[in-house]
Amino acid sequence: MDLSIVVPTYNEAPNIAELVTRVASATSGIRAEIVFVDDSTDTTADEIRRVAGEAPIPVRLIHRDIPTGGLGGAVMVGFDAATSDICIVMDGDLQHPPEDIPRLLRRYGVGDVDVVVASRYSGEGTNDGLAGASRVAVSKSATLLTKAMFPGRLKGVTDPMTGFFLIDRRRLDLRTLKPRGFKILLEILARTNLRVAEVPFDFADRNAGESKASFRQGVHFLAQLTMLRFGKMSMFAVIGGLGAVANIVIVWLLTRWGVGDIPAMIVAAETTIIANFLLQERFVFRDVKSEASGVWARFAKSFGFNNAEAIVRIPLTALLVSTWHISVVIATAITLVIAFVARFLFHALVVYAP
Ligand code: GDD
Ligand code: MN
Repeated sequence: MDLSIVVPTYNEAPNIAELVTRVASATSGIRAEIVFVDDSTDTTADEIRRVAGEAPIPVRLIHRDIPTGGLGGAVMVGFDAATSDICIVMDGDLQHPPEDIPRLLRRYGVGDVDVVVASRYSGEGTNDGLAGASRVAVSKSATLLTKAMFPGRLKGVTDPMTGFFLIDRRRLDLRTLKPRGFKILLEILARTNLRVAEVPFDFADRNAGESKASFRQGVHFLAQLTMLRFGKMSMFAVIGGLGAVANIVIVWLLTRWGVGDIPAMIVAAETTIIANFLLQERFVFRDVKSEASGVWARFAKSFGFNNAEAIVRIPLTALLVSTWHISVVIATAITLVIAFVARFLFHALVVYAP
């Protein structure tokens, strides 16, 4: 096999037949296969099996009953299952024209590269298929932000968020990549030092069905960026900061509604402790939690530690004031920083210990 084409699909039944036909004719001179990694809840898997029976090229199906890692996770599974080391990733909705496959291969053949990115933003490339001015604006600003955060690694890459690219699988250590959400290429480029070339392409209209991009994917993307750039501790800090703000707002609201100070503080503290745990599970320790203890055990440790920390912090602050003769404001700042570091270490080393 000279080429494996990895196609992640989520409810793309009406697009399968045309995709396979066009990929087959675009790759007619070479030995290529299509590997669908399907997480669909509709009839996509049946449609793939049907089309595979009559397709002129090998069409394989991996259907995941437990879809971990979303689109990015699906692509990793595809890399793992591919017969060829040379893999092209493309969407299943024909927004990535199969007729461009030979151009990606040709650029790879010229040499000196590990990845060929099909870019909407270089040279003749276009982004016409992105429906709506607001999605174009979001895509452009997300690209700018991403490039600003990785000026070194993304130098010369105009479209780090494209879902259409060729990669030499041997250049990837599949075990070290921890893809989350939609942006698998970004994850790869930010974590590795691969040599990248680009070819422009026209991002076409969706053939049929609906886009799976959503506000939720957007939030995941921002979390992914923060984690990639600054690591777990910064994401933990962002969540802690949000929790602190929520805590203040809840105290303010409850006291305004006539709740006493102490009950208001307790309700606010416990609510934000629980909310922080949930966010942390999702955005900070997602990649390690499956190797840690069960979710209730993790919750018990996290909840216990945060409550103990909240109870100990106030007398500790008072102790600092009296022994070091510093102001209560400075003492509070010091104990908050200590508490933050302690909380992070406890979570990283105890709650989410393998
Ligand atoms: N297996 C699997 N699991 N496939 C998924 C999932 C999932 O959870 N979510 C989406 N897909 C598949 C879709 O079926 C489609 O084939 C492809 O991934 C892209 O999803 P779309 O819903 O078409 O997303 P889009 O067009 O908004 O986003 C595309 O363009 C972006 C650039 O604007 C993708 O290529 C993105 O990667 C790209 O960044
Ligand atoms: Mn699409």
